[in-house]
Amino acid sequence: MIEFEHVVKDYNGITAVDDISLELSAGKICVFIGPSGCGKTTSLRLINRMIEPSSGTIRLDGTPVSKIKAEQLRRGIGYVIQSVGLLPHMSVRENIGIVPRLLGWDRNKRAKRADELLELIGLAPAAYRDKLPHELSGGEAQRVGVARALAADPPVLLMDEPFGAVDPLGREALQREFLSLNRELKKTVVFVTHDLDEAIRLGDRIVLMRDGKIVQDDIPERILGTPHNEFVREFIGADRALKRLSCFTVESCMHQAAVLEQALLEDGKPPADLEVNGTGTLWIVDAGAVPVGMCRRSDGKWGDVRDVRAEELGVKTLSSLRDALSRLLGRGLKAVPVLSDGNRLVGEVRLTDIEAVNQSDGYV
Ligand SMILES: Nc1ncnc2c1ncn2[C@@H]1O[C@H](COP(=O)(O)OP(=O)(O)O)[C@@H](O)[C@H]1O
Ligand SMILES: [Mg+2]
Repeated sequence: MIEFEHVVKDYNGITAVDDISLELSAGKICVFIGPSGCGKTTSLRLINRMIEPSSGTIRLDGTPVSKIKAEQLRRGIGYVIQSVGLLPHMSVRENIGIVPRLLGWDRNKRAKRADELLELIGLAPAAYRDKLPHELSGGEAQRVGVARALAADPPVLLMDEPFGAVDPLGREALQREFLSLNRELKKTVVFVTHDLDEAIRLGDRIVLMRDGKIVQDDIPERILGTPHNEFVREFIGADRALKRLSCFTVESCMHQAAVLEQALLEDGKPPADLEVNGTGTLWIVDAGAVPVGMCRRSDGKWGDVRDVRAEELGVKTLSSLRDALSRLLGRGLKAVPVLSDGNRLVGEVRLTDIEAVNQSDGYV
């Protein structure tokens, strides 16, 4: 757990952090957000003593960080920044091994750990371990930056606008991967961003700052649902209802889907006596359970089977309801398939599910 107790940071007359008190729970993602210059980066860097507070105390699992050697602290806390900071002349493997080397791990152990982490972040070790940073795309470099921060398995990760330089589509993928990664690793994450959508997607909790102070500290649903004041309302912007959908994963409200294996079609149609509930949508899957077609039943009759490309139509379990809605509306469908990582069908999310969430005050 990380605690801020009346923390202040002054820079010759400018108060960058102005009397902040907070308790951040272990294993959760807390997002600091706010306009440029509001003190997000300063707050983050106070935690690993890259800078020292003017007054107040920060504790890590009960111990004031001022009592822990800065060096030791930084080795025990992963730090990820936007420009990644990969060393250009070092290979991916060497970059990931920087902290382990400082900790005295031998070459074999470092190499093994690097491969393990590359696997974890979805980059094939054989293809990536010997690459140099300039041979990576922005998104790949950012993944390696995350791997490097995780190398010595620190319990805490500080991330300062880590995905800010990646294009929107790539950023969404990184956010989804990071969310799923942290479900497994359960690191205590302090994440800085100025992108509200990112904060809502990732945060278990959002701390909204202005002029060095905390304006609202809440779960995302409440930041959007009950903004404390005009500043918060303005910061959130007009499309609150839509943004609120980003708070919910598809997983939290998906339904079982009606499924038929392709081999069981009769003259290209589902068996006439096959009934389905819900939206009347039947997903046709191949032998590997990947959707290849869909068919609607209305007035007791099957329509034609339409071809479906799973990766274009489907959403993932950790996609947001907002993503699901844009697929649904874009295709004029009543349901979209939910896919596991191998594109296997695991359920469907329906327009009615999304309407229900939008009408609830739903702190799901
Ligand atoms: N090293 C520094 N010297 C003087 N002022 C600084 C320094 N670092 C940050 N500041 C000031 O502190 C305030 C907060 O900065 P920062 O924490 O970087 O904001 P954010 O990350 O939210 O954009 C800003 O007014 C900034 O100009
Ligand atoms: Mg900053």
